[in-house]
Amino acid sequence: MELEQGGRERSMVHDHVSKVGYVKGVISKRKKAYRRVKRSVTRVPRALQELFVSCRDTFKDPFTIPSPHHVQRLCQILDDMKAEDVGLSRDLQFFKPGNNIIKENPRVTYTTMYKCDNFSLCIFFLPESGVIPLHNHPGMTVFSKLLLGKMHIKSYDWVDSLHDELDPSNNLMQQNSKVRLAKLKANTVLTAPCETSVLYPTTGGNMHEFTAITPCAVLDVIGPPYSKRDGRDCSYYKDHPYAAFSSTSKEEMDKGKEGNDVYWWLEEIEVPENSQMDGIEYLGPPIGDEAPF
Ligand SMILES: [Fe+2]
Repeated sequence: MELEQGGRERSMVHDHVSKVGYVKGVISKRKKAYRRVKRSVTRVPRALQELFVSCRDTFKDPFTIPSPHHVQRLCQILDDMKAEDVGLSRDLQFFKPGNNIIKENPRVTYTTMYKCDNFSLCIFFLPESGVIPLHNHPGMTVFSKLLLGKMHIKSYDWVDSLHDELDPSNNLMQQNSKVRLAKLKANTVLTAPCETSVLYPTTGGNMHEFTAITPCAVLDVIGPPYSKRDGRDCSYYKDHPYAAFSSTSKEEMDKGKEGNDVYWWLEEIEVPENSQMDGIEYLGPPIGDEAPF
């Protein structure tokens, strides 16, 4: 998302952070609370160290697509992880329902725990009603673990050939527009603690959108990280019902639904305003090769 985008977006985030110096309500609140937790942590929680080691073993280079064995191992570790393993707690002010300071500024905040060329570990903080708009992960595998809160998730995968079978006229329509057919993979509400979600480069819900129902914290393992230079830029989409770009006859409407599969059109859009995030320093337990364990 914006943290990993091109220079314009990146500088926007950094300028924002440097100007406010974490004094801005939503960030300063969290930073102070984060520090309180940090003081009581002297060593790296075992789960966090295992996560780092497993990531390092899994993502050997920026082109790695994890083997089933590595996916299983990472999911096992993430499934068992708790908010406290990264220095968070549901008792922090940010996660209190009805936090008026957060309501005034519903922007999403992120912190990068670790980043190298092969993978990154980030935490996203979504205030109540906060949104990470529909975006993709080109060539990337993403493990998402909801640590705290409750959120609605919607995700899609591209459909590359089925649309021709559904409606040959769509092929011409797609050539002349930015819309592309996608299959709805998930449209559900997750409540922590819950299992880890895995998105593969072309399957599993490679495009997804998060909407926080209560304040949330999501830990993402991303391999490789976004890199505009290496062709892994982030794109944003607006979803349209299948009937919006097809005949509206009942017969055509039925073509938008095959068995339990539901198809939508995704239209690539300009970077939406609500995709902008505030970056904060990671103040949880240390992570990396030098971390005390
Ligand atoms: Fe994402």
